[in-house]
Amino acid sequence: MSTLKTSVSGIEFENPFLLASAPPTASIESIDKAFDMGWGGAVLKTITPDDLEMHDASPRYATIKSKGKIIGFQNIELLSHKTIQYWCDGIRFLKTKYPNKVIIASIMAPVECNAWQNLVRTLNSTPIDAYELNFSCPHGMPERNIGMAIGTSVEISILITSWVKAVANKPVFVKLTPNVTDITWIAKAVEKAGCDGFAAINTVQGFMGVNLNTLEPNLCIDGCSTYGGCSGEIVKPIGFKCVAQLRQCSDLPILGMGGITNWQDAAQYITLGADVVQICTEVMINGYGIIDNLKTGLLNYLEEKGMKDLNELKNIAIPKITSHEKLNKEHHLYPNIDNEKCGKCGKCIKICFESEYHALKKKENIIEVDKTTCEGCSLCSHVCPQNAITMVE
Ligand SMILES: Cc1cc2nc3c(=O)[nH]c(=O)nc-3n(C[C@H](O)[C@H](O)[C@H](O)COP(=O)(O)O)c2cc1C
Repeated sequence: MSTLKTSVSGIEFENPFLLASAPPTASIESIDKAFDMGWGGAVLKTITPDDLEMHDASPRYATIKSKGKIIGFQNIELLSHKTIQYWCDGIRFLKTKYPNKVIIASIMAPVECNAWQNLVRTLNSTPIDAYELNFSCPHGMPERNIGMAIGTSVEISILITSWVKAVANKPVFVKLTPNVTDITWIAKAVEKAGCDGFAAINTVQGFMGVNLNTLEPNLCIDGCSTYGGCSGEIVKPIGFKCVAQLRQCSDLPILGMGGITNWQDAAQYITLGADVVQICTEVMINGYGIIDNLKTGLLNYLEEKGMKDLNELKNIAIPKITSHEKLNKEHHLYPNIDNEKCGKCGKCIKICFESEYHALKKKENIIEVDKTTCEGCSLCSHVCPQNAITMVE
């Protein structure tokens, strides 16, 4: 029998699915419902000192859709509007009702030792399981020298991690931004400063474009817009990359996230080094109920693979990720065209010609591969509308 139970930094998780710090964790009443429905834990919407003013814009979301489905999300939302007292009372209430659920306090404060340490000292008195330091919100807060302004500076990240570690009585995870050239610089720095693990990724800074009818930005607030944080399916490859890079540079635990929509995405994050995963956008689109399929799917998968727990899946893909230089350049695949499936539309021939190789030709209504010019790039197999092309030895 396989199990989804797992343990990270001494914290026991009944399953590896956590709600990420975001609107689905912005109130105690909502988290109560999520726990009741089976989520393993929640990272609270980022808590700040009560005197840090928070003025949100309306509207604050924009989306990219494909065939009616939201595949990308942009937000310019700031942090929790609730007081520290609200959160302290709420954490106690939730922990009494759900002693086995994991509650992580996400926090952010101005770059002042007292501001961070006072916040931590207050939360230390509650039964939270860990801290997540939000060094990574890409909008609004960097203009005030916090959020991503912290997580893009090695010096400031080290400073704040040390301040927090000096007083925190629970493990401290640093939530990193993908909006850097190399996420491992900050990761290595905060590891040296004593953090207990990483959370990644926060949103990817982006802009959702312009409405060509109104000539206003798609996310338009009284005629203007600003750059925001992108999330959901479109950021998944960036999340995968960042988590793998973190695992390649450190053995510390990783709370992995970014674009998870189903159990398969979660499983892949775990193969790339995540210990547990967090989800935000998919919950904002479809609600807490997605937890049933997440848990059932991942558990069935472990059982099919004969794995007793997530530790057997964790890191499994990491040895297969290397530098481009080390890839075997002698390895060469060629397209194999299934003539039964092929619709003879000629798209593969056109694309191969217009994108460099001129290796596909139609001869008596059959598409042939010229192996003297084919470089085995695989583009034809991706663009074929009939999925009639596979790459073979
Ligand atoms: C509307 C919205 C608000 C968010 N607020 C926070 C926040 O307060 N603190 C934080 O650390 N991350 C925040 N995030 C980032 C998410 O926690 C998560 O890192 C990101 O959305 C990627 O995961 P996803 O693709 O599953 O949404 C927010 C994301 C969204 C979409």
